[in-house]
Amino acid sequence: MPILHAMQETFGYVPQDAVPLIADAMNLSRAEVHGTFTFYHDFRHEPAGRHIVKVCVAEACQAAGARVTTDKIAKALDCAYGETRPDGQVTLEPIYCLGLCACGPSAMVNGRLVGLIDDEAIDEIAAEVRS
Ligand code: FES
Repeated sequence: MPILHAMQETFGYVPQDAVPLIADAMNLSRAEVHGTFTFYHDFRHEPAGRHIVKVCVAEACQAAGARVTTDKIAKALDCAYGETRPDGQVTLEPIYCLGLCACGPSAMVNGRLVGLIDDEAIDEIAAEVRS
């Protein structure tokens, strides 16, 4: 885990080619390293965009309309959900509960929590990503 964290911190993601190298260095099987790497959603397989928008898709936010909000954000950012825009400006991805359940739909924008997302908040998120 510390090696995976260090690689992600250094490179912004963990290259797939690093898995066998880590396994050899730690005397682990490739399957063990791969299993750890893929179990935790925060380990990236590819570089992220300059801005990272994570929209909560857990139950409370879904009940508050997260599905519609996610579609609106994807359209406002011109970025497919779960993808990084081809120009590398933004990554839009799911997250599973931010602890803001009472303020859903919720998101994390560049590490900042945003709750009660409405159309105005979506416009602000889009403006931040354009900057
Ligand atoms: S369910 Fe979305 S913040 Fe908890």
